[in-house]
Amino acid sequence: MKVTVIGSGNLGKSIITGLASSDLFDPKNITVADKSEENLKIIQEQAGVTVTEDNVKAVKESKWVILCIQPRILNLVLNEIKDHLREDQVLISTVTGVTIEEINEVVPNNKVIRAMPNTAAVKQESMSFVCANDNEDEDVFFVEKMFGTIGKAIIIEERLMKAATVLGASGTAFFLRFLRAMTQGGVQMGFHPHEAQEIVGQVALGAAALIEDGTHTEVEVDNVTTPSGCTIEGLNELEHNGLSSSVIKGVMAAYAKISNIHD
Ligand SMILES: NC(=O)c1ccc[n+]([C@@H]2O[C@H](COP(=O)([O-])OP(=O)(O)OC[C@H]3O[C@@H](n4cnc5c(N)ncnc54)[C@H](OP(=O)(O)O)[C@@H]3O)[C@@H](O)[C@H]2O)c1
Repeated sequence: MKVTVIGSGNLGKSIITGLASSDLFDPKNITVADKSEENLKIIQEQAGVTVTEDNVKAVKESKWVILCIQPRILNLVLNEIKDHLREDQVLISTVTGVTIEEINEVVPNNKVIRAMPNTAAVKQESMSFVCANDNEDEDVFFVEKMFGTIGKAIIIEERLMKAATVLGASGTAFFLRFLRAMTQGGVQMGFHPHEAQEIVGQVALGAAALIEDGTHTEVEVDNVTTPSGCTIEGLNELEHNGLSSSVIKGVMAAYAKISNIHD
């Protein structure tokens, strides 16, 4: 099983590292192409994959071609590789906001599947979304399996891809900023910054584990909230300062932005 990844920047590196440590791909069967010599050197050392600066050579290697490049250079790369693709090859685009239809306008003879993972792919903890024109296609199930090796993956309708980008990809930054704020509180109470960050990270993992089986968040909040205790004092102060409202507004601002930038 061979896969080619074009683009080894922030997201590409995370996906490649995650896939290279999965059972599905041997690192030597992962070919990575990039224009950045520095990024190729890093990923070769980090993941033991094959690297090249030649996109055309890279796509000839594999059935699966994952595109991890910025939207502004997508057409440039598609035009570069399109005449070198066999019809059985599948393009997997992680490019934000570019539809399957738009990609097929440039590359009409290949199946296009969109995937929206996040940078936690490097720890095999990504939340990934997958969609195609036909979500019952066996290649879509394989791509779901592929991204399932680097975290959790679900198949969704393409109309939800923008919302998926905000919740699943931007969401990583939103949570990290919250963790940073918690850490600052921890330091103010007397912990060293590295201790506070470690504590806050573990507390976040624990909180996520508590709702993994579908338990409602508020059930677990109630379990921590002693009447008249310190937790409810803190929670109410957070809400008086607009925590929930601010988070919802942030999510919707990101959604408005992605909706305006792309199509
Ligand atoms: N970052 C995320 O969390 C995230 C999450 C979901 C989706 N996405 C999407 O994933 C895509 C990649 O994002 P990113 O953050 O990984 O971007 P990035 O860090 O800019 O990485 C893109 C890589 O592509 C290289 N590149 C530029 N021109 C190229 C060409 N002609 N052929 C081959 N490689 C080329 C870049 O090299 P240079 O640096 O030398 O230009 C860079 O190494 C974007 O479309 C983004 O919307 C990102």
